[in-house]
Amino acid sequence: MITPNTNYNNLKDSYLFYNIAQKTKAYLENNPDKKLLRLGIGDVSLPLCDEVIKALHTAVDDQAVKESFHGYMPECGAPFLRQTIADYYKKRGVALSPDEVFVSSGASDELGDILDLFDRSSSCLVIEPAYPAYVDANVMAGRKIVHLSSNKENGFLPVPDDNIKADILYICSPNNPTGAVFSRDQLQAWVDFANENGSVILFDAAYEAFIEDETLPHSIFELDNAQTCAIEICSLSKTAGFTGTRLGYTVISKSLVRNGMNLNDMWVRNRTTKTNGVSYIIQKGGAAVFTDEGQRQIHDNIKIYKNNAKILMEALDEVGIWYTGGKNAPYIWLKCPNNMGSWELFDFLLNKAQIVGTPGEGFGSCGEGYFRFSTFGSVEDTALAAERLIQLFGKE
Ligand code: MLT
Repeated sequence: MITPNTNYNNLKDSYLFYNIAQKTKAYLENNPDKKLLRLGIGDVSLPLCDEVIKALHTAVDDQAVKESFHGYMPECGAPFLRQTIADYYKKRGVALSPDEVFVSSGASDELGDILDLFDRSSSCLVIEPAYPAYVDANVMAGRKIVHLSSNKENGFLPVPDDNIKADILYICSPNNPTGAVFSRDQLQAWVDFANENGSVILFDAAYEAFIEDETLPHSIFELDNAQTCAIEICSLSKTAGFTGTRLGYTVISKSLVRNGMNLNDMWVRNRTTKTNGVSYIIQKGGAAVFTDEGQRQIHDNIKIYKNNAKILMEALDEVGIWYTGGKNAPYIWLKCPNNMGSWELFDFLLNKAQIVGTPGEGFGSCGEGYFRFSTFGSVEDTALAAERLIQLFGKE
């Protein structure tokens, strides 16, 4: 009889966001008259911007006409979109050739798929608290995981040291869930470490568009020698509201070589085997994000989410709850008040205020005692949540 992948026995029973969705569903079944204020999973609430919608409509019409119809798309991405993304990097001083850009169906899909490039005996370092899919995807593959805790004292931005031994290094900056962003010097230290040790950094840049402080790097390729040690995985989900539309991109330099194997060539081989590319329509919509007008419109939406962050941060200030993030990232990471555990606070907020957040413990054991609010909810829900937080935790 076939043996299924027994590594699945080493996973937690269910994935963090699935678990939360089940809990909130059960709450609504028992309390059908209540409306939830959703500050949990980082799912956007604003619609796609006009520039994208126009491009999507045009692309749909293209598909209705023989001369402009597209069948299979190139597996690694449409040349027009690969070029557009390379031009976007150029504005930040990063020179890429379009064939170093791979169009994907989103960062979460890609973060799992990219592991095909590495031997299963390779180990991976996860800086925690961390997006839980990093750990789960590697548990499924049976890899050894090295957990590196970050904390309030180091600003949730640990630096490498010689005791760390790992082949794959996950770095997410701006960070999910803490909102911390590595400075150039801090990130350079990781790049140097990876080059010295022959490791590869998987740099999750899904939240780069939220950076306000322009001294901070948006891309790891802004750092010296990153092209010889890093893969950058990015997404239009949070940047441009594509959580349901699905589109992302991955950058692998042609100079990324390990043990004589070129990882860009390997990824071409992988994609041409395992995908038939992202649909023409969606890639056209994605290209519209990078026009001047598209950039203006998506940043208008990002401003709305940033205002949500401000509303929540003001409420937390008022009730004296410690937090970080919210400025260069769409997440606020707070200390659970009254020494509550993170799931305890989850249940408390759900039952007393109908607020759904994410327990810190879901991002790794060092997240216990912390909690995450997403700022992607509607303005109305966020304002109401802020009011309820003040009622719950405000001093008499
Ligand atoms: C999150 O809430 O951490 C993210 O939205 C989840 C995701 O991007 O899959």
